[in-house]
Amino acid sequence: MPDTSSLPPAADPRMPNFRHGLFLAPMVRIGSLPTRLLALEYGADLVWSPEVVDRAIMGTERRVNPKTGLVEFIKEDKQIFSCHPVERSRLIYQVGSATPEHAAEAVRMVTAHDDVAGVDLNCGCPKPFSTLGGMGANLLSTPDLLCDILRAMRAAAPPHVSVTAKIRLLPSQEDTLALVEQIVRTRTIRALTVHCRTKNMRPREPALLHRLREVVDHVHKVAAETGQDVPVVCNGDCFSVSDVERIQELTGVSSLMLARGAEANPSCFREERACVATEVAPKWLRYAVHFDNPFGNTKYCLTQLAFNTTASLGGTERVSKLPKRELVEIRAALSQGRNDEDLAKALRQAWPVSSADELVAAVQAKLAQGEKQPMAHE
Ligand SMILES: Cc1cc2nc3c(=O)[nH]c(=O)nc-3n(C[C@H](O)[C@H](O)[C@H](O)COP(=O)(O)O)c2cc1C
Repeated sequence: MPDTSSLPPAADPRMPNFRHGLFLAPMVRIGSLPTRLLALEYGADLVWSPEVVDRAIMGTERRVNPKTGLVEFIKEDKQIFSCHPVERSRLIYQVGSATPEHAAEAVRMVTAHDDVAGVDLNCGCPKPFSTLGGMGANLLSTPDLLCDILRAMRAAAPPHVSVTAKIRLLPSQEDTLALVEQIVRTRTIRALTVHCRTKNMRPREPALLHRLREVVDHVHKVAAETGQDVPVVCNGDCFSVSDVERIQELTGVSSLMLARGAEANPSCFREERACVATEVAPKWLRYAVHFDNPFGNTKYCLTQLAFNTTASLGGTERVSKLPKRELVEIRAALSQGRNDEDLAKALRQAWPVSSADELVAAVQAKLAQGEKQPMAHE
């Protein structure tokens, strides 16, 4: 008989469904509230927060805006993280950590008022801000510590809140299989996301998707041996719904996570991409103004959107309804914008922009419908 004594209750309906779906990847800066709400509106099944380092969230004050419902974690007048009840059942909060006690405290901070559905450990980011002090992708070379952090997160999280991890491949397949086995044997995780690149690979290098099937099979084997269900989520070079079937067939996963595709256009979760200039960017701004999103973040995210074509994503598909000349003007005006009003003008929107109440209500209705029906990508 498999030992299930340390497992959290399996059938809690509040646990997110990792088994089937398309997920918004964690992205520092880009994955702020407006991006996540747009991704949900356009069909993402789960959304990850940007990585927040454990010490950053520790000691924050939680404030709720009674008018909009916005939940903010504030320290020294700076917003460290924000979220909204409408996304709660689909929101996975990503922790950056190299210290089990701090990771546990970070988990307690965001679960004390039930603000998120799951917590995820970043074991894949190779950027210096993340690898500092052994966090992010550096955890791949300290698997015992990685597993101790997962145990601390599981112990700190309420039983209905999932714990997951996001890793990269190791250079050797054998080492990768040993690592995932060690992680699964902690009996702490509800899913494992694998970014199919190694720590030293650049984002432009093609993801090593062909290596994933063996990893998936091994995770399933170890999970079955230990009486668990641990879906693997594939990440890397999935840019749109049209990539899904090919990657599923190649890797054997049923869930995929998209980062740069959603950075360029959060409507990549549905079949037909929405026009950035006339639909996506104006909605992004409405959310930003409604939720008082920090201006620097709003401007950065808007300028990262792909206004013209999918060229930045290796495609040539034209996604805008506006002539190229106008798009160039919009981008130039956005990059010169000094406040939200300038950004609205750049996007040819009236000021003040209309409230986002109606957008939030649409997301709520969509998610409520999804709860009754099978998930979109099942
Ligand atoms: C702007 C940006 C920020 C990112 N921030 C994070 C992060 O906070 N945590 C993390 O685990 N990965 C982060 N990543 C990596 C992505 O989640 C993802 O693993 C990677 O981009 C590969 O997916 P893709 O091929 O769909 O882009 C980031 C990627 C981008 C482009």
